[in-house]
Amino acid sequence: MKKIGVLTSGGDAPGMNAAIRAVVRKAIYHEIEVYGIKNGFQGLMEGDIEKMEIGSVGDIIHRGGTVLYSARSEEFKTDAGQQKGIEQLKKHGIEGLIVIGGDGSFRGAQKLTEKGYPCIGVPGTIDNDITGTDFTIGFDTALNTIIEAVDKIRDTATSHGRAYIIEVMGRDAGDLALWAGLADGAESILIPEQQTDFNDVVDRLNRGHERGKKHSIIVVAEGVGSGFDIGDRIKEATDLETRVTVLGYIQRGGSPTASDRVLASRLAAEAVDILLAGKAGRMVGIQNNQLVDHSILEILSQKHVINEKMYKLSQELSI
Ligand code: F6P
Repeated sequence: MKKIGVLTSGGDAPGMNAAIRAVVRKAIYHEIEVYGIKNGFQGLMEGDIEKMEIGSVGDIIHRGGTVLYSARSEEFKTDAGQQKGIEQLKKHGIEGLIVIGGDGSFRGAQKLTEKGYPCIGVPGTIDNDITGTDFTIGFDTALNTIIEAVDKIRDTATSHGRAYIIEVMGRDAGDLALWAGLADGAESILIPEQQTDFNDVVDRLNRGHERGKKHSIIVVAEGVGSGFDIGDRIKEATDLETRVTVLGYIQRGGSPTASDRVLASRLAAEAVDILLAGKAGRMVGIQNNQLVDHSILEILSQKHVINEKMYKLSQELSI
């Protein structure tokens, strides 16, 4: 292999730039030409492709977002769209592709692999919802952003003796909510993977209030439903003054944490190595601090699960 490409796709995540940097530098280290594809699979179909050099990825390791930009492409889900992408790859002589993104992006990578273009996936999403890896790039930064925000909310919650319902991202996964709730000492954590007993949520709030607790924090994963609806229900069921905060896109931006920069560098460099070693249709991951790779097809067929022991602990610690 003499020329490879790299793209970021789907929702961006802090650490994607560190991953792009590692792909480019590792490829050049192996004396391979590397091409950056802008705007994900959409840009691939449109031929928005340019050669990258060592300097193209200077001064980006600490930046949020993605210098290659990102998109969610409906057209690339079609056979015609994939053919358009393949024509562009042929035109530029690109023989293999590194795809940094989440499960939707890996579906595209799998299609290209099946059509003869070897792809390797690098898990980049704040949701931490990909099996085959303990962590995805961006999760740690998003988690720390949530915690910083909740710490601030807690100050005002205490001053006013209010209960705060905080809705966090995660799509259908509860990892961000669970980790943030545990790190923030939330009274209750509502996640899609666990059935919520609403009476238990109310009981915990009332118990805390009776003990003289000045604030209450309830973290709700967006996959459970609207934080505002939960807020209304809590207001009806308790005497507490409630407020709702939807953290939103603040969770997707910002400078990546050290953990995310290191994770991104390790995963992306490994992706280049296995692509050059002849592997295809694989996703790199980290499990027990060891680099691993799994078949993308296998990853896509598995359902994300949360750490149940951690969920139980969060409940035990907020009695
Ligand atoms: O997958 C990352 C994520 O931020 C999810 O947490 C959220 O549900 C989704 O993307 C939002 O996607 P979009 O920015 O395309 O609306």
